[in-house]
Amino acid sequence: MQPPSSTADLAGRGSWESMPAAQQPEWRDHAAYDKTCQRLSSAPPLVSAAEIKCLRWSLTRLIAADALLLQAGDCAESFYECTGPHIEEKLRLIDRLGDRLSDLTGQSVIRVGRMGGQFAKPRSQAVERRGEMSVPSFRGHMVNSEIPAPAARRADPRRMSWAYEASDRVQRAMRAHRQERCHAPGAEGPWSSHEALIIDYETSLTRRDPDTRELYLTSTHLPWVGERTRHVDGAHVALLASVANPIGCKIGPTATPDDVLALCEALNPRREFGRLVLIPRMGRETIREALPPIVRRVANAGHPVIWLSDPMHGNTTLSRQAGLKTRHLIDVITEALRFRDILEEHRQYAAGLHIEVAAADVTECVGGPVKSEDDLLRHYSSLCDPRLNADQAIELIEAWAKGVASRRDSDDQPERR
Ligand code: PEP
Ligand code: CO
Repeated sequence: MQPPSSTADLAGRGSWESMPAAQQPEWRDHAAYDKTCQRLSSAPPLVSAAEIKCLRWSLTRLIAADALLLQAGDCAESFYECTGPHIEEKLRLIDRLGDRLSDLTGQSVIRVGRMGGQFAKPRSQAVERRGEMSVPSFRGHMVNSEIPAPAARRADPRRMSWAYEASDRVQRAMRAHRQERCHAPGAEGPWSSHEALIIDYETSLTRRDPDTRELYLTSTHLPWVGERTRHVDGAHVALLASVANPIGCKIGPTATPDDVLALCEALNPRREFGRLVLIPRMGRETIREALPPIVRRVANAGHPVIWLSDPMHGNTTLSRQAGLKTRHLIDVITEALRFRDILEEHRQYAAGLHIEVAAADVTECVGGPVKSEDDLLRHYSSLCDPRLNADQAIELIEAWAKGVASRRDSDDQPERR
């Protein structure tokens, strides 16, 4: 896409800007706010409409159960890891996981990184306690610093520009990688994705395609709306409803069938194939009761959604000794397999996995090489949620790939090790 040529082509001022937006930084009175938004509004798009259309076309294959989708990466990207070697390491990891899934299933795997813009985090608590002190929560490098000091935690709109620059480096590397790997069998992508959380940033990066006049979010290929901002009358849903990208929506344990149907109607009113990815993240126990009525409602209404399992975010616990956020691989695997079974029982297609996984050999989740919670402190470096390491992610992918056959042979659920 060409950079916008006139102000009429700049960011599409949309209906969502007057709607309530949860989880936004308070930074409008900062001296750099206006200038930063203006600069981003006239900056070149980070991804092109042609690329976005290409991903949308690929995703239509999932409706025909003809490929798998693997969305993987950090919970929160770091500005400090947007250098060549770090990006290459992450892309190698995505290749490795996608290739393994493809080898085991014989299916083509569309790869999507949680990268190239995953710099903003919704938080359940506005503040966090640090000993005697309480500081504003870390909200991702697009908003504030992870350093737990009041000044560092102040929201700074200039960080949107830094996020743009960092994303640009990642997007260029991903583009080169797609070109290098475009003839690899069973591989499509890697495309970029992130949670479209910060309305100021995302609005500034909407662009109209001069040919079709459609609005695109050019910050990423596949934006998603998170569990904390998926209000059907809120700004985040309205923003994603307005753009032509393929979009995702997280579905947490309290979502009702009515809520989810309303989201489908809002986000994909024309019921287009390859448009909407629904991402349940319910927890290994809750999914059994909560997901089936939702799947029935969506299927009965005839909505062509792509069902993707996030088996991570409903299974977060605190470690007993150190109080570290962690996840047990067995819970993650159990939820993923239950998701797959529920979809199949309803004759719907389980399209794949959305996972948090680190390129470095971290010890943030328990399972596989991380034998117990005592091992967590060895290499715990996540900026936000605990990520699988590569070996743990491979174990999950192998369980997913073998899941149906082995679970048909025996009804046993895996036990907590
Ligand atoms: C996430 O994906 O990191 C996240 C915050 O997820 P959710 O919106 O599902 O809680
Ligand atoms: Co997360």
